[in-house]
Amino acid sequence: MPRVELTPLVPPILVGAVFWHGGFARVGGFGAIGRLAVACGCLKVFGEQLFLNHFFLPSGATRRSLVGWAHRKIWAGWTRFLMRMGTQHIVSINTWDHMVPRLDSSPGASTADFDEASTINVAQDAMQQWKIFDASPVLDQVKACMEDALVADQSAEAEAAKAKMIDSVVSAALKHVHIEGRSLTLDDCFVFQCAQERGAYFPNIHWDTEYMAFPDCDAFQIWYMLENDQSTGNMFMAHTPDLQSHDLPARYLMQKDGSVQKVLHNAAPHEECPLRHFKSVDDLDFTFTYLDMKPGDCMVMSKRTLHTSDPRPHVLGETIKRLAMNVRVLIKPADRPTFGIWPHHQYFAMNAKPLKQLEKAIEKHEDGQFVRVNGHKQVKIPSRHFLIAFF
Ligand SMILES: [Fe+2]
Repeated sequence: MPRVELTPLVPPILVGAVFWHGGFARVGGFGAIGRLAVACGCLKVFGEQLFLNHFFLPSGATRRSLVGWAHRKIWAGWTRFLMRMGTQHIVSINTWDHMVPRLDSSPGASTADFDEASTINVAQDAMQQWKIFDASPVLDQVKACMEDALVADQSAEAEAAKAKMIDSVVSAALKHVHIEGRSLTLDDCFVFQCAQERGAYFPNIHWDTEYMAFPDCDAFQIWYMLENDQSTGNMFMAHTPDLQSHDLPARYLMQKDGSVQKVLHNAAPHEECPLRHFKSVDDLDFTFTYLDMKPGDCMVMSKRTLHTSDPRPHVLGETIKRLAMNVRVLIKPADRPTFGIWPHHQYFAMNAKPLKQLEKAIEKHEDGQFVRVNGHKQVKIPSRHFLIAFF
């Protein structure tokens, strides 16, 4: 039977009921306006609980169930809305116009430019490590799951197929990565997020903030190309000598006056913390490489690798239909079964349910004190696919 978690909705419903019938809304003679205000407040809390806690995730639901159908409709719409809002925000805080000629003249890279047998270092302090390889043997498997993903099918069948597909893709990628010479197996990997959506939705130079949630963790990202019939809209890899191996996740925001603001990329709800200002983009000595990839090609990169969705279609106001899948993979430390975790990352504020589950798996000593390694709390992630169920 599908298990739907309704408890987070109880407080707003109770509070709403008490206010509505208890006459609080009429205090001061506000009448209908007071009731409307209460209704809006309750709806806001209800909505937050609904979406932030994923209460409607029908764990174990089948494709044919009514709950599964409703979930698909709500979740697909919600994801698209969030992505669109996120992209609009990113476009609004970057001015790319003056960079278009530079991007147009940047070289492209394809699978032909890489030695199939070469591997990249994905140790946690490795920077600017990436390569493209041919992963077309798993293209049909990825495509089949993509159809489910785009309609937000998270039924038990779809989740099982997705886990199998991700194992195939990660296995293919493992032949191209190492950690300081250590080769990796599937059992070393924990999949952290799997996102699929159309568009070039993150047009700013950055490395990914999500890794802050698991400090000091070796990790890599897979970017699998599925569809793009345009000559633009993929991704640019960026390089600047300013990036350091001890940096926290950073973004470089292009300003209207041609300067660049480097900020701490911690997904803070308002403005991210400014780190450094560069009078001109030339001061960063940026170089860019366009990922000239075709369906079935796969790019793999270490976590401290700067990249940006191609911003050029946004500058021209073009619609981008490009379809790619990205998967982040955490690597289990060689000497223990746990990961360092920083549970206060904004990522968890937006995805409350995985944090609730992860908090249960944070290790404690018998005296109740947290187990710490290098100062970080330690979590034993329940299974390799645990974290993809929530994003
Ligand atoms: Fe990214």
